[in-house]
Amino acid sequence: MHSDTSALREIRRVYGRRHTRSLSTARQAAFENLLNVLHIPKETLDGGNLAAKDLFGQDFSSLWLEIGFGNGAHLKQEMEANPGTGFIGAEPFVNGMAAFLDSIEDSPKENIRVYMDDAMTVVDALADGVLDGIYILNPDPWPKKRHWKRRIVQPEHVEKFVRVLKPGGKLIMTTDIDPLAEWMLTHAINNPALRWTAGKPEDWQTPPPGWNPTKYERKGAAKGRRQSYLVFERRC
Ligand SMILES: C[S@@+](CC[C@H](N)C(=O)[O-])C[C@H]1O[C@@H](n2cnc3c(N)ncnc32)[C@H](O)[C@@H]1O
Repeated sequence: MHSDTSALREIRRVYGRRHTRSLSTARQAAFENLLNVLHIPKETLDGGNLAAKDLFGQDFSSLWLEIGFGNGAHLKQEMEANPGTGFIGAEPFVNGMAAFLDSIEDSPKENIRVYMDDAMTVVDALADGVLDGIYILNPDPWPKKRHWKRRIVQPEHVEKFVRVLKPGGKLIMTTDIDPLAEWMLTHAINNPALRWTAGKPEDWQTPPPGWNPTKYERKGAAKGRRQSYLVFERRC
């Protein structure tokens, strides 16, 4: 996807950090070379009718969205392992985006598009029932009660996720912070269009088959923290 508009100029404020340390030469180069090529232009994002063909210029057998991909380790593995699937990655953190773009410099990029801002803008732009799945992996916990409204999983956001998921499409949420797991579980269970796929504790205590851990998940595991894997399916 090519755009004359600089993706950087289009970004708006989201909660949390946008930028920390300065970028290495390699990351800066990857950022400059690839962001405008792979970034979804803002002008594409109105109307609520966006489908894979509009984003990639071709249809894909399935389409997934990863919200808050961090350094993109999970997204990279998924896009490389599934060339027939389109992936959209949303991440407002400049250093994370640059790390991801640097990491995929030598990979085929036909099936990846990125958005460096609030993932909900992408969700709102998508047509009904276009996604096979959404990953929300280790989202920011916002532990203080006065900040809970900033959490990406909110009842109104869950409703939006349901709208863009196909029947049978998956909402996969992970965290190693128990109060956040409870929060995400409660809001997803409260949506009648979603079905929790877990039948027994091991189902949410162990990763789904073929799971690619994220950076946060690895860091947490190294400190002995236990990850919850909350997999929901949109009812037909
Ligand atoms: C705790 S990090 C986890 C990163 C990665 N998923 C992992 O597990 O390693 C949460 C990420 O969500 C991103 N984020 C926060 N709000 C977001 C939003 N509204 N849309 C997309 N990403 C967001 C942050 O920039 C941050 O990189």
